[in-house]
Amino acid sequence: MNTPCFIRGLGHCVPTSVLTNADFERMVETNDEWIVSRTGIRERHVALKGETCVDLCLGASQVALAKAGMQADELTHVIVATFSPDSVIPSSACMLSHRLGISGRMSMDVSAACSGFLYAVETARALLALHPEAKILVAACDIVSSRVDYTDRSTCILFGDGAGAVVLSATAPNGPCPQVLDVLVASDGAMGDLLTVKGGGSGTPYKLGEAVRSDFFVQMNGREVYKHAVRAMSSICAELLAKHAFDKTDVDVFIPHQANLRIVEAVGKRLEMPESKVFTNLQKYGNTSAASVPLALSEAVAEGFVKPGNLVLLGTFGGGFTWGSALVRF
Ligand SMILES: CC(C)(COP(=O)(O)OP(=O)(O)OC[C@H]1O[C@@H](n2cnc3c(N)ncnc32)[C@H](O)[C@@H]1OP(=O)(O)O)[C@@H](O)C(=O)NCCC(=O)NCCS
Repeated sequence: MNTPCFIRGLGHCVPTSVLTNADFERMVETNDEWIVSRTGIRERHVALKGETCVDLCLGASQVALAKAGMQADELTHVIVATFSPDSVIPSSACMLSHRLGISGRMSMDVSAACSGFLYAVETARALLALHPEAKILVAACDIVSSRVDYTDRSTCILFGDGAGAVVLSATAPNGPCPQVLDVLVASDGAMGDLLTVKGGGSGTPYKLGEAVRSDFFVQMNGREVYKHAVRAMSSICAELLAKHAFDKTDVDVFIPHQANLRIVEAVGKRLEMPESKVFTNLQKYGNTSAASVPLALSEAVAEGFVKPGNLVLLGTFGGGFTWGSALVRF
């Protein structure tokens, strides 16, 4: 039997600065009608100069710790899911631990693009099996704006910045406490070239004095990514439901990766989820990559969309390709 994994606290944090569709009309050849009809996105929060991944992780983590009624020094492990860390070395997890005023813990980053949160939660579940006394902070954050080419209209309108965080442990205090029942994650590197940020890696290194090229930013075959996102997210969600002999009607709330509304609707349709059960906030935030699912989950709980006792299904899809699903009983 799996070691239990309780969500002791949950929080999110977004930058205050907002880019609306009207702002994009002034930056590239686009318009509000095109963006809303193709993506559902109306605005996104973007980091101000100097505002970093660790800043947002810290904000989200402080909320999650406060909700858990815990102090940072009770944490035993810190995991950050991101593809846009503050620096290559040190990791954002080491920096976050330091900002939380703790040291001596295992701190590490997980890189799985938009599926990063579920990859990090699955890593935390493995750590809980090894160390049942552990109290693990998982923060998922992307400053996608640092890797977006704001002259490329086909990608720049899609993304925003944000962070979400959870504190996980194998035990829970008396009373109801959300429990991660299971996680499934998967990948297929054969399709990696359909969604990339190559520049800055050792395959496309920075060279002193050389101009930054377009491959230092998100590059994507939107149509292909769309098709694979719909297929992969719906099949891994169905697989997880089947594994636990849950029927689709057992799911109270479905929170898919907030990539765009058409993907969300297509996945919801394939899973036969009524629209009333599907939570979206991509209209306000765009695609925040690793932060997307925890940011949506945190808002869904804060708004009362998720209620005690609810069975919540999560789904993700991202570059790599990576994808995943999770079931949480609130
Ligand atoms: C990106 C996406 C919205 C584009 O929608 P689409 O219907 O596939 O549109 P296309 O890429 O075929 O482009 C259609 C036209 O719109 C144009 N276009 C692209 N971006 C535009 C914009 N922001 N404003 C106006 N026109 C735009 C294209 O240039 C193209 O023009 P053309 O026909 O003259 O060549 C869609 O492919 C998508 O959602 N893909 C998934 C992206 C995603 O979520 N990725 C992250 C997953 S983790």
